[in-house]
Amino acid sequence: MMPEFQHATVLLNETVHALKPKSGRTYLDGTGGGGGHTDALRQAAGPEARIITLDRDPIAVAHLEDRFRASPNVQVVQGNFFEAKAILEEFGICALDGVLLDLGVSSPQFDTAARGFSFHRDGPLDMRMNPELVSAAVWVNTLPEEKLREIICRYGEEHYATRIAAAITQYRENQPIATTLELAEIVSAAVPAAYRRDGHPARKTFMALRYFVNAEIDGLAQALTDLFSLLVPKARLAVIGFNSMEDAVIKDAFRPLMEGCTCPKEFPVCRCGRKPAARWAGKPITPTKEEIQTNPRARSAKLRVVEKL
Ligand SMILES: C[S@@+](CC[C@H](N)C(=O)[O-])C[C@H]1O[C@@H](n2cnc3c(N)ncnc32)[C@H](O)[C@@H]1O
Repeated sequence: MMPEFQHATVLLNETVHALKPKSGRTYLDGTGGGGGHTDALRQAAGPEARIITLDRDPIAVAHLEDRFRASPNVQVVQGNFFEAKAILEEFGICALDGVLLDLGVSSPQFDTAARGFSFHRDGPLDMRMNPELVSAAVWVNTLPEEKLREIICRYGEEHYATRIAAAITQYRENQPIATTLELAEIVSAAVPAAYRRDGHPARKTFMALRYFVNAEIDGLAQALTDLFSLLVPKARLAVIGFNSMEDAVIKDAFRPLMEGCTCPKEFPVCRCGRKPAARWAGKPITPTKEEIQTNPRARSAKLRVVEKL
């Protein structure tokens, strides 16, 4: 028996509805996780559709394999969606009828103390989605102070990055930082008391380290445009981000594809011939009050859907 894998899928109906799944077509779920979106896609598209579901986390992959054992049209693959083009080529797929990405970590990753993602649960300072990566503990104990400051500032947008990086380097002079709660306490002690009343003071530092350990942000824009290039005309890519940084990367990645003619305004006719390659399929979608009530982790989710023209 597989251990339970409890992840409440966010914006489930909205995402599947946006992709308009059809029989006989090929879809990619680039962030399989617990398989909630994959399963809804599978049901909506029917048994003649082909669905590839990727996850970089071997624990999620084992769960997905178990969940879709009886669904031969769902192929579960361990891999990074940043490399989806090459992975899909191995399966002889060079075009897609829809792509879904639900960024970030799953609840089992976040809630399992041993995975080291949570500043609330004591565990090894790990944060890796894939055990082949280098753990947060190694980075935190070896990176120069300036690099730590830069990571915490850039990926965490943390106002007190300088103080936090200094506190980390000072602490590790005596002993290595081994656990999540150890790091959470170092961060808490480094920031002003008033800041401690404004949510958990280590939240942004943990987010920054997680992004860095798993290289989640750098290269995301390129990965999105690579995936977009695989879509057939009229196909859609649906992507769910969970904060303003992810949302900005998503918007910036697609903006150039939405631009049409770039000729100077004075030109009486277009000479560049450039036409938009993409459009937003509607406004960004956020969860309903009811969804947030039943799943508070959905509160910051924002779904953007881009359509190939
Ligand atoms: C928010 S969860 C997805 C949940 C899923 N949609 C569901 O309904 O259960 C995100 C998942 O994406 C995976 N992931 C994050 N970044 C990834 C990447 N670059 N490539 C592949 N998987 C990734 C994580 O390991 C995690 O399992």
